[in-house]
This record gives sequence, C-alpha cells and structure tokens, in this order.
Amino acid sequence: MKRHRIAAIPGDGIGKEVVPAGLRVLEALAAREGFALEVGHFDWGSDYYKRTGRMMPEDGLAQLKPYDAIYFGAVGMPDVPDHVTLWGLRLAICQPFDQYANVRPTRILPGLASPLAGVSPADLDWVIVRENSEGEYAGQGGRSHRGLPEEVATETSIFTRTGVARIMYFAFALARSRPRKKLTVVTKSNAQRHGMVLWDEIAAETAREFPDVSWDKELVDAMTVRMVRRPQSIDTVVATNLHADILSDLAAALAGSIGIAPTANLNPERRFPSMFEPIHGSAFDIMGKGIANPVGTFWSAVMMLDHLGEHAAARRLMGAVERVTADARYRTADLGGSADTKTVTDAVVAAIREANA
Ligand code: IPM
Ligand code: MG
Repeated sequence: MKRHRIAAIPGDGIGKEVVPAGLRVLEALAAREGFALEVGHFDWGSDYYKRTGRMMPEDGLAQLKPYDAIYFGAVGMPDVPDHVTLWGLRLAICQPFDQYANVRPTRILPGLASPLAGVSPADLDWVIVRENSEGEYAGQGGRSHRGLPEEVATETSIFTRTGVARIMYFAFALARSRPRKKLTVVTKSNAQRHGMVLWDEIAAETAREFPDVSWDKELVDAMTVRMVRRPQSIDTVVATNLHADILSDLAAALAGSIGIAPTANLNPERRFPSMFEPIHGSAFDIMGKGIANPVGTFWSAVMMLDHLGEHAAARRLMGAVERVTADARYRTADLGGSADTKTVTDAVVAAIREANA
C-alpha cells in the first residue's frame, strides 16, 4: 500500500477548524482508494509565538523536510503584527523550500454563482500562476532613521533571470496541459522599466519553446477590467508575486467566494515538500464558531493528491466537493447558506463513500 507523509500545520484562526476537516476527508479517501496517510501534527503559529517568541521552532524546516507534502491552514492574529506571522511561518517555509510556483485555480463550482451577470461556469475557468519566490516579496529593503522626520523605508522588487525563466516555463507548460493551450502574461512594463521589461523579454523567449501555446500580454490594471468584462478570454495566467496576489483575490470573488479558493505552493523539482492551503486566511472574525467554509481546504487537498500521484483520489474528492456545493443545504454563510463546517464535511465524507462516485 502506498504511504504518504503529510505535515499538517493548521496555524491560526479558522485554519484550526478547516485543516482538521480536511484531514477527515483525506482519511475517508485513503480508506476508499487504498493508500495510507501518516500525518504529523504541528501546532506552530501565533499561539506558539506567544509561548515561545517564535512562529515555528528553529529546526522547523528540518522537521518538515522528510514529509511528502505540507497541508497548511492560515496565519494571522489580531494581536500579532501580520508581517511577523507571515514571515515567521508561511514565507519562512515557502522561500527556503523554494516553492516558487504558486498555482491558483478558479472555477465557478456547481450550484455557486458569479456576481457577474450572465457569467456561467463555462465562461470562467482559470488558473493563475503566481511567482512565489521573489518579485515584490523578495524581502529586500530596510528602514533607516526610525522615528525621525527623515525616516526612510525601501521595499525593493527583485527579478532574476533564473526566477523569471522558471516561472514562465512552468506557466507555459501548465497552459499546454489544458485544453485551450492559452496563456496571458500579466505585466506592468509600461511603468516599471527594469524588472517588468526583463519579465516580458523572458516571456517572449519562453514562448518560442511552446509554439503550440497561444499567448498574449496584459497590463495588470487592464487585467482587472478584462477579468470582469471578458472572463471567457482568459485561461492560464502568469503574474508576479504581488500582481497575482491581488488578481487571485479578485478571481476568487468573481467565482463566488474566497472561501472556496485553493492554492498549491510547488517546488516542481521536488527537492523540498510542496505546501497546499486555502487562500482565505485566518478570518479571526469568525474563528472558533465552527462556521468556516472548508471547501477551499478540500480543493487544496485535491491539488495535494494530484501532486502525490493519487489522481483517482483527487478526482473522487473533486467530484464529492462538487456534488456537495451543488446542494443548497450544504452552503456556509459566505455562500449565502447557514450550514456549519461539520455539516459540509460530513456531506463530503458521505459523498466520498458513495459506491459509484
Ligand atoms: C495570499 C495571502 C498572503 C499573501 C497574505 C496572508 C500575506 O494574501 O496567499 O494570497 O499576500 O501572499
Ligand atoms: Mg492574497
């Protein structure tokens, strides 16, 4: 029997509710499809920080390294600064584990509706590829003369040929694997004359290796308009770390709810474990109430199963999730319903167990 080692890091806020729900669903799938899961539980995050002064232990990465994948919840707490929580845990894993390809699929799931009038599921089926290792999140910069009137802070974006070339290659290859074989490269090279111009040049170079992929370029501001006005014209998208961060929130909202949106932080060469998480964040306004939408966490598990080579289980889970979203009884508050996390999870587990699913 195949065995997969999963490191579960629920983190903060509703991460502590949705990750256990996801693990229940994964156990049901393992039983159904005949593979074994070995789950390591890590209580890292803001509570851990308050006890120890660190978001994760000093040897945290060494502890995670032997796992096949990381199943992550969220970070962020009202009383700990966001840059501390983020850089102390999530980015502290993404960057050293070189999870440079962040993949964010967006679709309108059955039963859900886009806020865009007249837009049906056939009109909106996107995958956003986010550069996840450099760009505006490179962490380059600093502050001088703190507190004085002449205080200065810099936040420098970094674009390297290696970093841009590998994400372009990844995005073109992903576009090629999808039926429409179509990629939109998001840029801002009209205003940003260095990094973004290199980005465009490398996109054009990479395109030559993928003659069967049709591609176009869109400025990031115009891209927001296109996502709203012509969603059908988009399939696969590649954008910088910050641009894709912003566009993927818009994408999730246009598909019905940020509560359903998944993401994979991939190290495509598999030198390090990859990490799978919902994109909704810790949502402390609803934490502890048991009402969080677990669908983004389940869809992230679909991506994790595909990464682990469990394609049949991935398909079964996506099918189960889609049958549940189609049923109005199983909608959480963000989708206009009143179901709680447990009810949705029970329904997905039941759908997984159904004989002919
Ligand atoms: C995301 C999130 C994070 C990001 C936050 C939590 C810092 O918005 O994954 O999109 O900006 O990367
Ligand atoms: Mg974001």
